[in-house]
Amino acid sequence: MGVFPSPEWLKSAVFYEIYPQSFRDSNADGIGDLNGIIEKLDYIKGLGCNALWINPCFESPFKDAGYDVSDYCKIAPRYGTNDDMIRLFRQAHAKGMRVLLDLVPGHTSEEHEWFRQSTKVERNEYSDRFIWTDGAFSGYALPFIGGESKRDAAYILNFFKCQPALNYGFAKIDRPWQMSTDSPAARATKQAMVDVMRYWLSRGCDGFRVDMARSLVKNDDAHHHATIEAWKEMLSPVKQEFPESAFVSEWAAPQDALSAGFDMDFYLNHEKTAVREANGYNLLARRFVKDGEQEKDLSYFTADSGTSIKAFLADYLPEYEATKDRGYFCFLTCNHDTVRLAPRLSDLEIKIAYGMLLTMPGVPFVYYGDEIAMRYYALPTKEGGYFRTGSRTPMQWGAGANLGFSQGAKEDLYLPVDPSQDAPTVEKQEKDPDSMLHWTKLLLGLRPGHRALRADGGFEVVAAPENGRSFAYLRSGDDGERLLIALNPGLEDERVALPDGLNPAESEDCLAAIGQVRPESGEEGNALSLGAQSFAVLRC
Ligand code: NOJ
Ligand code: CA
Repeated sequence: MGVFPSPEWLKSAVFYEIYPQSFRDSNADGIGDLNGIIEKLDYIKGLGCNALWINPCFESPFKDAGYDVSDYCKIAPRYGTNDDMIRLFRQAHAKGMRVLLDLVPGHTSEEHEWFRQSTKVERNEYSDRFIWTDGAFSGYALPFIGGESKRDAAYILNFFKCQPALNYGFAKIDRPWQMSTDSPAARATKQAMVDVMRYWLSRGCDGFRVDMARSLVKNDDAHHHATIEAWKEMLSPVKQEFPESAFVSEWAAPQDALSAGFDMDFYLNHEKTAVREANGYNLLARRFVKDGEQEKDLSYFTADSGTSIKAFLADYLPEYEATKDRGYFCFLTCNHDTVRLAPRLSDLEIKIAYGMLLTMPGVPFVYYGDEIAMRYYALPTKEGGYFRTGSRTPMQWGAGANLGFSQGAKEDLYLPVDPSQDAPTVEKQEKDPDSMLHWTKLLLGLRPGHRALRADGGFEVVAAPENGRSFAYLRSGDDGERLLIALNPGLEDERVALPDGLNPAESEDCLAAIGQVRPESGEEGNALSLGAQSFAVLRC
């Protein structure tokens, strides 16, 4: 068990991440909104997703797409009202779905009233809500801004210039202006964040995805022990009052994140961190190596990369083993900060990738549009997106104006829709049984009937050849069910030996397949023959 008991519903949860600006515009102003999300709840449920994570939709000047919050308890007017959000909670619940909002605890917008008050020369309730040095000229090792306020001090940033860091104190104090994690100021910040969580949870919200969860306490050690303590303090009263609430961290170090009381942590594309050597997630789909002038794609899912699954497992397995009884380390198809897999990977490569990503342990997250393999579309930056903007374009629903995203004028759209003639849409893919949409539905559709695929189902590596491309693993349920999952993303046929006692039967036991995957038995025992670019889920 984790620090706090995790709600039972997470075991069978599948999340759909919605970037609200770009999902569905219900009132033709060119920007997605909450009523648009409500319209599409049945579509999301039909995919096999029973939970949502909505990126920040609170009042904001939108210099970082809403991750610069100016009022945590008010829905940004461009998305609707607080009442619309409450209606969204109710309608989702009526359909058996859950809704996580995005909590940004590490910083506010420079336009938040707390920060405005904090910049004043006169001392007030918010003077120490942010981290200020002792003079406008006195900088520090952390990023800071001086010369912007009447207050004769510089303030510390958490991310962009528009995002001053909230004050949770310092783990190691090396300047007189730094406060302890137990100072009244740090305690007031924690209380304010608990109040924000309670505000939304008491109105029907089911939990939060937490932005930069490890960033709170400054000068913390490599494992963020002081930040872990801060989270336990904040989550303790919240989990007590809302035991069904769920929390997923943007931390990318599950052992630390689960020790802090989170139910789940994301496997992200962050570069190597102080606590993990190589990033397994990047080895799967984003491993590029300079080869003279050229850049070689050595990602495991890239058909001709020639790489083995071993390097991924060296990162993943220790994390999985250390956390499997305490919570979940979650795979995503992509997110709003990451370049989508399409068009760099082909549809076939992506189907095999989803085969694995959506059947590994933990709670899976599907980024809006990935179910139709929407393509990364390079665009000039919008709202602090920079390269990320290309993964944030409007959802492609069908034929017609703006591919069904909005009835508004093309010039008014939040971002342009993919202009390609062959841009994938939900409408086209619904009619095509071989589409990415049908494949995603098929994979997610296996979960309700197979306890082996639950977040907490067993996981065991069956084959991971050093000199091969294949990967086979067993998932097992508390009802004794065993599913063998095997893939070969490479271009050559392969054969992997199966341990004694593992006897996948032929065709009728195949629950999902791409290409040729055939069990074989001979004198040397059981084996699995895996054709080039193949994937299968087999009952054993
Ligand atoms: C991580 C979020 O996912 C990203 O979109 C944002 O820009 C930063 N945190 C800052 O809040
Ligand atoms: Ca709108």
